[in-house]
Amino acid sequence: MTAKTGTHRTPPTVLVLGATGKTGRRVVARLRDSGTATVRAASRSGEVRFDWTLPVTWDPALAGAEALYLVAPDDPSPVREFVQQAAASGVRRFVVLSGRSIEKEGLDFGQGMAAAGAAVQETGVEWTLLRPNNFFQNFDEDLWLAPLRAGRLGLPIGDMPEPFIDAEDVAEVAAGVLTADGDGHAGRVYDLSGPRALTFAEATRAIADAAGRPIRYEELTPAAYRAELLAGGWPEAAADALGAMFALHRAGHTSEVTDGVRQVLGRAPADLEPWARSVAARGVWA
Ligand SMILES: NC(=O)c1ccc[n+]([C@@H]2O[C@H](COP(=O)([O-])OP(=O)(O)OC[C@H]3O[C@@H](n4cnc5c(N)ncnc54)[C@H](OP(=O)(O)O)[C@@H]3O)[C@@H](O)[C@H]2O)c1
Repeated sequence: MTAKTGTHRTPPTVLVLGATGKTGRRVVARLRDSGTATVRAASRSGEVRFDWTLPVTWDPALAGAEALYLVAPDDPSPVREFVQQAAASGVRRFVVLSGRSIEKEGLDFGQGMAAAGAAVQETGVEWTLLRPNNFFQNFDEDLWLAPLRAGRLGLPIGDMPEPFIDAEDVAEVAAGVLTADGDGHAGRVYDLSGPRALTFAEATRAIADAAGRPIRYEELTPAAYRAELLAGGWPEAAADALGAMFALHRAGHTSEVTDGVRQVLGRAPADLEPWARSVAARGVWA
């Protein structure tokens, strides 16, 4: 992908969507630290303004972009038009953040990611799909942070394990694929898991041990989980999407360890326990 000018290589311009989010901001940091790309960091509140719901922001954000890290919106409706516009404006490589098993028939979540995967495959330019498991960072930056701090994580997943992955590994894979020379990653779908599958009870125990305080995992029925989300102020649509996500996990569709990180980076993915110790040392779950 690196453009060649005579004997000099010009780093490609990469538009990173979701650039303030858990993977996007790590992709931005890695590309900038390595000097392998000129980065345009885009989101509603990002350096470059980009809003899926405001098509007027798309063209200015795409200016000069040759490669694109695509973090899709939940609503699939704008995705195809944007992807076509991106390809028409000069994007030659799409790296799409997707999710494990979202191709399952009749899923009630992940439609934006699925639409992005389908849209890039219509463009005729290089595309790569990254399909990670749940990120470690859901425990310290997102959904499960508040419950852990409160001392109790309640979810409807039973004993089905989940091979959680470090968003740093996802970002390193994405940055590598975005800037790789040649087309070796074109048309590839990488399922990205961590090195071992843990139940949520085991992950909660690892975090509690690292934090040095009692935090318990409680198994909920899907109905009880939904009731808790609604009581906590979550909109119905979000509660439905989370319920559908846990149904997918519960059915075992995302529970197997994969070797996607090793395929791209040639090394094992990070383990949850040392990560939990380093996060706990910052007092995040205190
Ligand atoms: N979290 C996981 O464990 C996980 C695992 C597998 C796949 N995924 C998938 O990864 C994607 C991102 O999820 P995440 O949890 O990582 O999200 P996240 O960290 O919350 O990041 C979301 C990003 O999207 C931006 N954004 C939100 N609304 C936007 C809009 N209307 N227009 C433009 N940008 C917008 C946000 O920035 P602004 O607020 O500044 O706009 C933010 O940078 C989702 O498709 C999710 O299904 C997540």
